[in-house]
Amino acid sequence: MDNLPLDDYSAHGNLHDEILGGAEEQLESMKTLLNKLEHKELADEMESFIEYVEERVLGHFDEEETSSGLYDRAVGREPALHDKVQGLKRDHELIRMMVGRMKEELSKDEVDFQKLIDHSVSIILVDELHSRDEENLLLGGGE
Ligand SMILES: [Fe+2]
Ligand SMILES: [Fe+2]
Repeated sequence: MDNLPLDDYSAHGNLHDEILGGAEEQLESMKTLLNKLEHKELADEMESFIEYVEERVLGHFDEEETSSGLYDRAVGREPALHDKVQGLKRDHELIRMMVGRMKEELSKDEVDFQKLIDHSVSIILVDELHSRDEENLLLGGGE
């Protein structure tokens, strides 16, 4: 029962938009801080951006990949979707790796903030493309 909203095109699509919107807002404030060279505050914002992505984005991925979650059920219903679902899982994996890189960079003595911003932009872009693909492939694109 818990998984039902993920099967619903508009509920799932709205969730994607809400998650992306929150990440985009944080990115904007990080860019402003970078321009102002407020590195201490920026480091705190980066920390909270990473926490947000782990909780909302990666948390959402985990829910989709759980056994009998959205992905398993889609392939169970339509075995021909197997390869496409593997592709979607790879997108999840790429974002997990990007988050790992951000944590690594943030733990350095000399943090490259521009690099962290670039990673944040990439995460948001890949997540956006992934979300649209997922909606089209698994949720019928709103039909
Ligand atoms: Fe996904
Ligand atoms: Fe999703």
